[in-house]
Amino acid sequence: MNPFLDSLLPYPFERMNALKAGLRVRSNAPHIALSIGEPKHATAQFLVDACTDVASVRAGLGTYPATRGSDALRASIGAWATNRFLLKPGTLTPSKHVLPVSGTREALFSFAQCVLSGRSGSCAVLPNPFYQIYEGAILLRGTTPYYVACPESTGYLPDFDSVPAEVWQNCELLFICTPGNPTGAVMPLDQLGRLIALADRYDFIIASDECYSEIYPDESRPPPGLLQACAAMGRDDFSRCVVFHSLSKRSNMPGLRSGFVAGDAAILERFFLYRTYHGCAMPAHIQHTSELAWADETHVIDNRALYRHKFATVTPMLAPVLGVREPEAGFYYWPATPIDDETFSQRLFVEENITVLPGRYLSRPHAGVDPGLNRIRMAMVAEPAECIDAAERIIRFARTL
Ligand SMILES: Cc1ncc(COP(=O)(O)O)c(C=O)c1O
Repeated sequence: MNPFLDSLLPYPFERMNALKAGLRVRSNAPHIALSIGEPKHATAQFLVDACTDVASVRAGLGTYPATRGSDALRASIGAWATNRFLLKPGTLTPSKHVLPVSGTREALFSFAQCVLSGRSGSCAVLPNPFYQIYEGAILLRGTTPYYVACPESTGYLPDFDSVPAEVWQNCELLFICTPGNPTGAVMPLDQLGRLIALADRYDFIIASDECYSEIYPDESRPPPGLLQACAAMGRDDFSRCVVFHSLSKRSNMPGLRSGFVAGDAAILERFFLYRTYHGCAMPAHIQHTSELAWADETHVIDNRALYRHKFATVTPMLAPVLGVREPEAGFYYWPATPIDDETFSQRLFVEENITVLPGRYLSRPHAGVDPGLNRIRMAMVAEPAECIDAAERIIRFARTL
């Protein structure tokens, strides 16, 4: 057995289930899960049709799909990323700089297995709180994770100034998540640029998880991305930089398992080699559906309008009782709780049949501070009526505290 398996911590949802085990719900109202970031808005019909087209599914069944994906899919991704992140036309070459992946989850995990050396003393830096795959991927490679707190004082962005030089010296991989899960914080271009300069100075790779980049409130201010920071610096080879994107949140298709990685061609060539063994090639009809999804913005704009409307309704309801603030991007609230986060979550479940995630399940104590302690994560993914119902019940509950 891989000895590092023992270093893995239980997944947040397992801890949540354990926390709820044996509790008796007092409310008769239906259960509402605000704990899981699984989009519930309807998938656009043209994508449902593409994915379920029998002729297209049947055509793909008789051949092994290519790990690199079809030219058409990579071209669609390349055009999308070039347009979205203001890249100089022609710099993001689909054949060299883009690989399709079966969702960013497996890609984030396998990328770390590929690029980390496992050498004694090596470390990988990640935000705290964080998406737990980063930590698991680092630990399973026998690498030491270094957690960088995302406190309120830095606008919930990782406090990179607090990282000692010796950590950067030993760092092989930096994970960033922008927009952040669970904080919603968006890294500005200049901070991305400073991280790229650090990566050059200390010789590490940046993996930028941008899977929430298409959920944002202001159509005129899309969150910037790492490739965009490269372009702004004239770094047209995207050296040391790899981004992770997904159709799960952008196009409400978490079940499709489709995303891509893009960036530094030399790193992607090594990752391609890894993936030929890893064996996560995307089935043909998923590739075809993905190609159409990346080529269309209308359904993405419509989706953002739904979130905008929902947040405009729910935030003013919850702000007076729970101090929620509308996320800069993404679909989570990350409020402080007036009592211990686990107790809050348990009592909300018992009294109102609502599940939220205790913040500490998404974070680790580090240097005497746990940035998730006494916070909760609430995913505003359901249809508006359910979110409003949840808000009304949370208000009733919060007034009893
Ligand atoms: C920060 C973050 N990254 C990656 C993922 C994985 O998304 P997917 O594998 O569906 O692309 C999630 C899913 O919730 C997430 O929150």
